Amino acid sequence: MNDLRGAFDGHSVLVCGGAGFIGSNFIRQLLADNTSVRIANLDLLTYSGNLENLSDIQPDSRYTFIEGDIADPRVIEEIFDRFRPEYVVNFAAETHVDRSIHVGALEFIHTNVEGVFHLLEAAKKAGCVQKYVQVSTDEVFGSLPLDSSDRFSETTPFAPTSPYSATKAGGDLLCRAYNETWGMPVVVTHCSNNYGPYQYPEKLIPFFVLRMLEGKKLPMYGDGKHVRDWIYVLDHCDAIARCLLSGTPGGVYNIGADNEMNNLQIAKLILEYFGKDESWIEFVGDRPGHDRRYAIDSSLIHHELGWKPRHDFESAFKSTIEWYVDHQEWIEHVRKKTGVFNPHIDLWRGHEKA
Ligand SMILES: NC(=O)c1ccc[n+]([C@@H]2O[C@H](COP(=O)([O-])OP(=O)(O)OC[C@H]3O[C@@H](n4cnc5c(N)ncnc54)[C@H](O)[C@@H]3O)[C@@H](O)[C@H]2O)c1
Repeated sequence: MNDLRGAFDGHSVLVCGGAGFIGSNFIRQLLADNTSVRIANLDLLTYSGNLENLSDIQPDSRYTFIEGDIADPRVIEEIFDRFRPEYVVNFAAETHVDRSIHVGALEFIHTNVEGVFHLLEAAKKAGCVQKYVQVSTDEVFGSLPLDSSDRFSETTPFAPTSPYSATKAGGDLLCRAYNETWGMPVVVTHCSNNYGPYQYPEKLIPFFVLRMLEGKKLPMYGDGKHVRDWIYVLDHCDAIARCLLSGTPGGVYNIGADNEMNNLQIAKLILEYFGKDESWIEFVGDRPGHDRRYAIDSSLIHHELGWKPRHDFESAFKSTIEWYVDHQEWIEHVRKKTGVFNPHIDLWRGHEKA
């Protein structure tokens, strides 16, 4: 964020969901780049929210943590009264597709739709917000065929296929409505798959690294040819900061790294790091409705806001693996708090092998 250095000095920023993976990376970066920013982090500390992600900055006087639910209007209104944030970024969400299928969608509707509604209402009432960024996902656009070169643009129609993506789309549409109806200065971002430190280990990359550390095979959904555009988390955080500062109110920005890789390729890179061969991949039944391919056209944010990804995949990916290898205590604390990662994988073992 070098050319953004100092851009938020003297301002108050409300970050929702800042104890999770991307939010904690965002807060750390914002504090590093701005000496006099004030940050309030509102997080419900669900299974993926972890104060240990921010233990190094907890004592910083510029930073305040509040435990609470974005879908609780009383809590939100109090925070707007107390901090008068000029900037709001909402990372708070239920985010795991498998949980939305196997555990149920109600929590997803609560946070990803009702929560966004209450945040928008409170921001509207408070009248102090110059920009609200709703951090959304490319998954709202549905799936692209493997054998095409099509990419999602900002005008691609929503076609979500999982309860997770459907609820994210619901929140995004509320943002659009609040901009159209009340002129709320809302920006919605659609980013592709992130990798980096502090990601809850149910997601592909930390999960596979953890399996390797445990000496276990890598369970691969279906044929493993599902393609994602992998972006380093700090590149995503940089894009969000630019949207917060200069994004057009009512605007939508797609964020990707032009780095399409399938799950088999990701698995092989992890195996290679640990000196293992492909016999360590175990094919398991596919996720129902598993989207084949996501690909992002990020030319709008590049041209309008001057953003482009700065991290080289090879080195950022390797440093991400190393981070998990070096932070096994962090993994153990998370496991102790939340239990087994991806228990459904074991239930599916042996079903519909590819
Ligand atoms: N991880 C990715 O690859 C990716 C890609 C594109 C977009 N996104 C979006 O980015 C955002 C952050 O994703 P992440 O990977 O950091 O998720 P995460 O699961 O690591 O973090 C989510 C955070 O939100 C908090 N939270 C959940 N419900 C809440 C509620 N009702 N009130 C307050 N806090 C609540 C959790 O405690 C957690 O700290 C999400 O909105 C997600 O849709 C993620």
